[in-house]
Amino acid sequence: MVVFPYKADDPAVAVANMATAAAHPRVRRVVTVGAADTPLLERVAEGAAEVARRGHAVVEVVVQERIGDLRPGKGDGMLTGMHLFLDSDEDRLHFYDADITNFDSSWIDGAEEALDAGYPVARHYFPRASTDAMITWLVTRPLFAIGHPHSGLWRIRQPLGGELALTRPVVEGLVASEFVARRSDWGIDTAITYAVAAAGHAVYEHYVADGKQHALYGSLADIEEMVWECFEAAADTTRLPSPAAFEHVLEPDAPAPPAIAHKVGYDVEATIHLLMDGWSADEVAVAESLPSPISGPLLDNRTRPSFAFLDADAWYDVLAEMLARYRPETAWRRVLFRLWAARALAYTTTDALSGHAEAMRRLEATVVGYASRSGNRETGD
Ligand code: DGY
Repeated sequence: MVVFPYKADDPAVAVANMATAAAHPRVRRVVTVGAADTPLLERVAEGAAEVARRGHAVVEVVVQERIGDLRPGKGDGMLTGMHLFLDSDEDRLHFYDADITNFDSSWIDGAEEALDAGYPVARHYFPRASTDAMITWLVTRPLFAIGHPHSGLWRIRQPLGGELALTRPVVEGLVASEFVARRSDWGIDTAITYAVAAAGHAVYEHYVADGKQHALYGSLADIEEMVWECFEAAADTTRLPSPAAFEHVLEPDAPAPPAIAHKVGYDVEATIHLLMDGWSADEVAVAESLPSPISGPLLDNRTRPSFAFLDADAWYDVLAEMLARYRPETAWRRVLFRLWAARALAYTTTDALSGHAEAMRRLEATVVGYASRSGNRETGD
């Protein structure tokens, strides 16, 4: 069974992806899941009906249920897909984002091969522009490294990836997990990644060398909600037990194709304005409550751009402070977003200028360094 969570993406792309999945010999059911008020969901349903008439698979569009207790979003969509799967007699569940423009049968083949080889979890990973994936690189993997330094959790390359395949027992465990089942928002991917590792399942990461072509965001403001929801989910995992050792197979990666290596992930100029504009009194108070090496240069943004202070070491300190003090309230969320945007700009104007391969090497080395810094702190070294 293949599930596509849908969020106002191009309906023609979504329908083409449903047709591709429905034509795969191993696929018997294809479901696109979206919120009731999602623009264009009806257009996808019309296209799906046409796809269903042509092929052997059941093809449908379903309005997602209200399952979690956070903001209703992608998590409710994925959880609805999991419930439908468990009510069916299918034995494998694949998820793919609906907006992939280079989706073909090889994505399903790659995951099926890993499951055929006995892995209960197959995750796709792929090259991304060096200034893309800024939540993965600056939030999720660092928090996993800081919170679970001795576990393999932080080594998973794309913990926010929406392209994965799971066997039935894995899905049963996810649906039964309170931590996963409440995550109705963007935190769902983080929760799944943690819960799968915590359950001790072997994880196979399949490399898609051509990358995933899909719509990129404009300024980082487009993913503000995603930043804090992913932060909150990852921060919650730091209060849970660290996963014990689990098998993790990583297919070797390869240099990014030029179209990805040379792509700029977001609009730098627009992001500088985000840092400077619209400070509320509550945000200023939150920023002032942080230690002065962070609050001073952060608050300078009220009069001039200030982000160079956030190198990788300073960012570790910010994350540690945020883990200790953050509250899921508007002012904290806005300050977290400003700090994250500042760190993204600092990285983009330094490390990212050294070419794609070197930038990726430094990002990876930073995550490794965070795990050893946090691990050493725990063991008192
Ligand atoms: C990430 O950071 O991986 C998110 O997909 C945003 O790019």
